Amino acid sequence: MTRIRVSAPGGGYDVAIEAGSLARAGESIAAAVGRRRLFVIADATVWSFLGGRLSAALQGREWTLLKTDLGERRKRLSTVEELCSAMHAAGADRGCAVVAFGGGVAGDVAGFVAACYMRGVDVVQIPTTLLAQVDASVGGKTGVNLASGKNLAGAFHQPRLVLIDPATLDTLPDREYRAGLQEVIKHGIIRSAALFDFVNDRREAVLARDPAAVEHIVAESVRIKAAVVAEDEREAGLRRILNFGHTLGHALEAETAYRRLLHGEAVAYGMIAAGRLSELRGRLDAASRERIEAAVGGCIAMPSLADLSARSIAARVGGDKKAVGGKARFVLADAIGKVGDDLDPPAELVVAAAEHALQVSRRMAAA
Ligand SMILES: NC(=O)c1ccc[n+]([C@@H]2O[C@H](COP(=O)([O-])OP(=O)(O)OC[C@H]3O[C@@H](n4cnc5c(N)ncnc54)[C@H](O)[C@@H]3O)[C@@H](O)[C@H]2O)c1
Ligand SMILES: [Zn+2]
Repeated sequence: MTRIRVSAPGGGYDVAIEAGSLARAGESIAAAVGRRRLFVIADATVWSFLGGRLSAALQGREWTLLKTDLGERRKRLSTVEELCSAMHAAGADRGCAVVAFGGGVAGDVAGFVAACYMRGVDVVQIPTTLLAQVDASVGGKTGVNLASGKNLAGAFHQPRLVLIDPATLDTLPDREYRAGLQEVIKHGIIRSAALFDFVNDRREAVLARDPAAVEHIVAESVRIKAAVVAEDEREAGLRRILNFGHTLGHALEAETAYRRLLHGEAVAYGMIAAGRLSELRGRLDAASRERIEAAVGGCIAMPSLADLSARSIAARVGGDKKAVGGKARFVLADAIGKVGDDLDPPAELVVAAAEHALQVSRRMAAA
């Protein structure tokens, strides 16, 4: 078992990582929040695969299941209202705790419900996608989408415990798993050449979801994310480095109307573009840029983007909500394991970097 302490305002919390630990969720939750009444907000798909295990673990506890469709389309205020109303109808009081059970959507929605129900109740996160385990469940960001954009309404609400059982990933579709892996590669690029090398050197084991390999990449990713968010809870400074590959990634998601690419796939393209932009800005050597491309390409079947225009993708970059005063803000690599800011690089170089990512996608599709 790996236990990682995340320091946060109001005390901090543990991220506990161990294969098979879902079977002992009852004890772990009791140790974190006591034996109070639990409201399990579960993604219905996840419940169909893993609900039996969590039910068994909660035997003897007072708990209520709120199972609902939690696809990205349901990540909205009306779902939060629905869940808060269901909790109230079931008699939830200020002393209850919410358990978020599912991927990043379940975590964001249930976390936001916990942040606002009766002005805030405790939440335990049990993430079941690789993306949620290595990224979304740690850091305390919760929220929903508005019709006008993603993640525009939300709150910071730190969990009391994040319980990660890598064995829950066994039923995750391969495409989702590989998309989540991109955030692991990102963590390697921003902070740990060792993690980056591990994913490359042990690629077969990682892709085959070898339990020890999965536990290692999850734990190392959580360590990196925890360290970054602990230094910078509200994203004023350092936390921005977690956005490596995301400036162009978000532009690509918007350009493809959030339909063709999973988030991790858009980030994969975004990291290739960021690598090229780093090289064009004279910060990264060509060999390292190529290693980034090989690592990303080796872990994902990149959906072809041959029909897109680099210029129109680049034009969306300024519209990123993390842009500063309309200026594009990129995180660029100086080496694998070390990144820094680049505020408003020349537009032509952004277009060239986007064009490069599209070319790489064509090359990969042809291979
Ligand atoms: N709060 C944050 O800091 C943060 C960070 C990154 C991403 N996010 C958010 O996370 C969301 C994406 O999360 P995601 O990629 O986990 O998507 P998701 O929650 O939609 O899950 C992806 C799919 O996998 C299914 N699934 C989940 N676990 C499964 C399992 N163990 N077995 C079988 N199927 C399973 C789900 O039903 C869903 O269909 C986005 O809304 C994004 O904005 C939040
Ligand atoms: Zn991401």
